[in-house]
Amino acid sequence: MKPLNQVVSATPPSGIRRLFDIASQMQDVISLGVGEPDFVTPWRIREAAIYALERGYTTYTSNAGLLELREAVCSLQRALYGVEYDPQQETLITVGVSEGLDLALRAIVNPGDEVILLEPCYVSYQPNILFAGGTPVPVASRAEEGFRLRPEAVEAAVTPRTKAIMLCYPNNPTGATQSRVDLQAVVDIAVKHDLYLISDEIYDRLTYVGRHTCVASLEGARERTVLLNGFSKAYAMTGWRIAYACAPRPIAALMTKIHQYTMLCAPHIAQRAALEATLNGENDVREMVADYDRRRRFFVRGLNAIGLDCVEPTGAFYAFPSVRRTGLTSEQFAERLLQEERVAVVPGNAFGASGEGCVRCSYATSMAQLEEALARMRRFMERNRVFAEQEAKATTG
Ligand SMILES: Cc1ncc(COP(=O)(O)O)c(C=O)c1O
Repeated sequence: MKPLNQVVSATPPSGIRRLFDIASQMQDVISLGVGEPDFVTPWRIREAAIYALERGYTTYTSNAGLLELREAVCSLQRALYGVEYDPQQETLITVGVSEGLDLALRAIVNPGDEVILLEPCYVSYQPNILFAGGTPVPVASRAEEGFRLRPEAVEAAVTPRTKAIMLCYPNNPTGATQSRVDLQAVVDIAVKHDLYLISDEIYDRLTYVGRHTCVASLEGARERTVLLNGFSKAYAMTGWRIAYACAPRPIAALMTKIHQYTMLCAPHIAQRAALEATLNGENDVREMVADYDRRRRFFVRGLNAIGLDCVEPTGAFYAFPSVRRTGLTSEQFAERLLQEERVAVVPGNAFGASGEGCVRCSYATSMAQLEEALARMRRFMERNRVFAEQEAKATTG
């Protein structure tokens, strides 16, 4: 048979999955691996979907999505961040931010264009750039610098072939947020070199320290930015597959064209549920965020106390501690922790080479589970001689 698509064939499967396939065969595993809320979608939102079904909302919607929903998400963005989008021409309802990422890249990238991405980052970015015919150009952020965005490193990565920069703050997997000043510096680079910005702000509401900065609200950003956001994380709606994209008219038009031919529209029932979430879900969001924040403080304190040094994650629901003190690689650590103590975490190198030396732990799980996970991880660290030996060597010189 003739060979299948070479780009897709050459792309490795997601590094998140392998260990979880192993974990799913084991008993009594505590999973800190999955990046999804442990809450069920709030009742008012589920009820809106049930009501939508009862009323027979089982048809396609317009390609761009229900106008009421587009109007509601535009009002939300205006209220939260002061950014203005036209619901008719600049807004598209997508099947998750996942689809929005794919559409944005396919609308912007020509074969051979380079796309800068700030690693460690969400596992889909590299493959999505490749599938769109682009070349990913990773720029590393480091634990030693608190995973701070380094505008000077971003600028150093720009070449005549650079087309776009992808941003994701609050970040998966580090939980890092960025200062307005650093984000503005990246926007200034985009303006200077005439680049597009794709900003995945799916964790915007899960910001625990300071206020979220919407990239599109920064000076010079709006005309070159695709703003992606959705319902999966803030409203605990991962399974509904519903999100939105806001972009200036020419980009939104191309994204809508691809969506029209490939997806037709996002699921109608999910759109009705998302409308209820946007209009009336604010208290639910606040309650869930307060709960994540309690777990975040508890868990990060616990990690640092057992020698898993952790930069304070100020957003999302992930901690990204360093395992360097154990002398193990990220993969060895994750594999042994799973086999020996039945705690599942994700090796940091799944999120790009600069994630090596760390593991991603999701704290979107109950306090009881977090307590038990920390107890097991403490046992693992205590048994681990390398940590103690290195400390001893350092003190005896
Ligand atoms: C940074 C980031 N972007 C996008 C997604 C996918 O979101 P959705 O469920 O809206 O497709 C995830 C899911 O984990 C994510 O972490």
